[in-house]
Amino acid sequence: MTAQFPAARPRRLRRTAAIRRMAAGTRLHPAELVLPMFVKEGIAEPQPIGSMPGVFQHTRDSLRKAAHEAAEAGVGGLILFGVPAVKDARGSAADDPAGIVQQAVADLASDVGDTLVVMTDTCLDEFTDHGHCGILTPAGEVDNDATLERYAAAAVAQARAGSQVIAPSGMMDGQVAAIRAALDGEGFEQVPILAYSAKYASAFYGPFRDAAECAPQFGDRNAYQQDPAGPVGEALREVRLDLAEGADAVMVKPALAYLDILRQVRDLVDVPVAAYQVSGEYAMVEAAAANGWIDRDRAIMESLIAIRRAGADMILTYWATEVARRLS
Ligand code: PBG
Repeated sequence: MTAQFPAARPRRLRRTAAIRRMAAGTRLHPAELVLPMFVKEGIAEPQPIGSMPGVFQHTRDSLRKAAHEAAEAGVGGLILFGVPAVKDARGSAADDPAGIVQQAVADLASDVGDTLVVMTDTCLDEFTDHGHCGILTPAGEVDNDATLERYAAAAVAQARAGSQVIAPSGMMDGQVAAIRAALDGEGFEQVPILAYSAKYASAFYGPFRDAAECAPQFGDRNAYQQDPAGPVGEALREVRLDLAEGADAVMVKPALAYLDILRQVRDLVDVPVAAYQVSGEYAMVEAAAANGWIDRDRAIMESLIAIRRAGADMILTYWATEVARRLS
């Protein structure tokens, strides 16, 4: 009997770095990376975030500096979150023209707004004293329709301050339509909406709640964010509704644990799809790397490639500046 030789040899295309590079189907580009940033009112120095090593709550000045660095690295966009000095039940700082997000977004738009896209997250959780993403009923539930008015006001305040993309993340029903109507009514019909359409009630947001100081003071977000065990069709329905309401692009969040959802959304729609590599995804890699348990740089690139391969056109990642530098 003669020796059996394999008829197919996939290893041929893996043999050299040049062949692998040429044949790679998935590539990352700095322009598709979006850097989430935090700005805090009333601090003199940037504050490190314990659960997110390398990420800071910025002052207005340090935010400008970090935004310049991102722009120089070729990052595609920034998304801004604010931590106000004073919080109240209705999240008044969210639409205050002198609120920290409005002030900081004006800085960023004038500094780097011609080089990259300056976006704002539109929600109330950073601004409410109870930490929920909306206005509460007397019974302590989030009141969907009362919240829509607040989102609309916040979105208009952000656009007026110079935000170039409005990104509603609160998972209220009808939020895209409410914001679209308000923006159009105030002359901001050219400002796009990137909808956090399929956003899950995730444990992976833990470190963000330190960064944005927005952990709910009671209860959780399960009555508005999606159940990780919920039907896949629920995510697709949210996406379809947001598009019907006027979303220009849609987002899946978190990323790594929801690549199946990301792929299905990508196959469903003909608008750009974003994925948010959230704070817990960042913290897991940083913590393991700090212990010497994982190759940090390879884990970062592998996770981003996986998100890209699953169908993301844009990736929100706290590593955006670092990775953009590495890519160029
Ligand atoms: C809500 C919002 C959250 C994140 C982005 N927008 C927090 C939440 O829903 O609890 C989380 C992002 C991250 O974990 O990196 N404004």
